[in-house]
Amino acid sequence: MTDRQPFIFDTDPGQDDAVAILFALGAREQIDLLALTTVAGNVPVSYTTRNARVICDWAGRQDVPVYAGSDRPLLRPLVTAEEVHGKTGLDGVEIHDPVTPQQDGHAVDFIIDTLRAAAPASVTLCPVGPLTNIALALAKAPDIVAGIKEIVLMGGTYFEAGNITPAAEFNIYVDPHAAEIVLGAGVPITMLPLDVTHKACITGSRIDKLRSLPNRAGKLVADILTSYARFDTQKFGLEGGPLHDPCVVAYLIKPELFKGRQVNVQVETASALTLGATVVDWWGTTGLPANVNWITEIDAEGFYAQLTDSLATLP
Ligand code: RIB
Ligand code: CA
Repeated sequence: MTDRQPFIFDTDPGQDDAVAILFALGAREQIDLLALTTVAGNVPVSYTTRNARVICDWAGRQDVPVYAGSDRPLLRPLVTAEEVHGKTGLDGVEIHDPVTPQQDGHAVDFIIDTLRAAAPASVTLCPVGPLTNIALALAKAPDIVAGIKEIVLMGGTYFEAGNITPAAEFNIYVDPHAAEIVLGAGVPITMLPLDVTHKACITGSRIDKLRSLPNRAGKLVADILTSYARFDTQKFGLEGGPLHDPCVVAYLIKPELFKGRQVNVQVETASALTLGATVVDWWGTTGLPANVNWITEIDAEGFYAQLTDSLATLP
């Protein structure tokens, strides 16, 4: 990526969200972060919003607008993930009362207003939590598709098993109806599913490299990932926790680190057994048009080098 790209980061921090936000804030030459919009997911929206503000403080970026968004999915009851991220949503580190202000107004209205004012196909939306805010914006103001360059999201699973049920990945499972609206929006979509994020696991040596950075951000991220890795190591038998959301930021900065395929993706919104499953037509058997660039491969060493370089620029 050469010039700075404007984007909106829609997030449910969440430990991996926190690393992704710091990653983005450290990459100021490539990324013009218009705002953080928060959504209920890993923890309730009051916590995800407080956490987004805390993370901006950590980066010395009290200028970043933070808008609170949806407190529940479109139709489903909210499912959270405190068992992974802790009650605060940022297990592993102390939480302070944030200085970064919460902006007035709802996140969905900010997304609509920003896209309506934007140049055609100029803004990238980066949801890394349940897709509720994005779906509500599309439903309330369908004309905003004109301002969207691309939606680059973390979510879904196909070749990997699910992480919240055998069939589904958490972000899609929490709000499958929102995912259905987003997948049908008719704008370019890149999805980074568990198929690729499970190939970018944090390891002890990678945590040590982050901890050795001569700044606060390196130690904060090392502490967060030490706590975060515990859950996934036990659950998936992986060497460390998969860094889901930071994969979105790496894709924005250096898409050549990834490989995928244009495919048709649909989401299950009815079956109790497979609710939230992302059904990927990998071999084109349906003849349906491709609506998603589905990412399956990553250069993990290149990803961690990019992440470490970006975090090194923070306070
Ligand atoms: O399934 C992983 C996703 O769910 C990540 O975005 C994580 O933060 C949680 O939101
Ligand atoms: Ca997330």
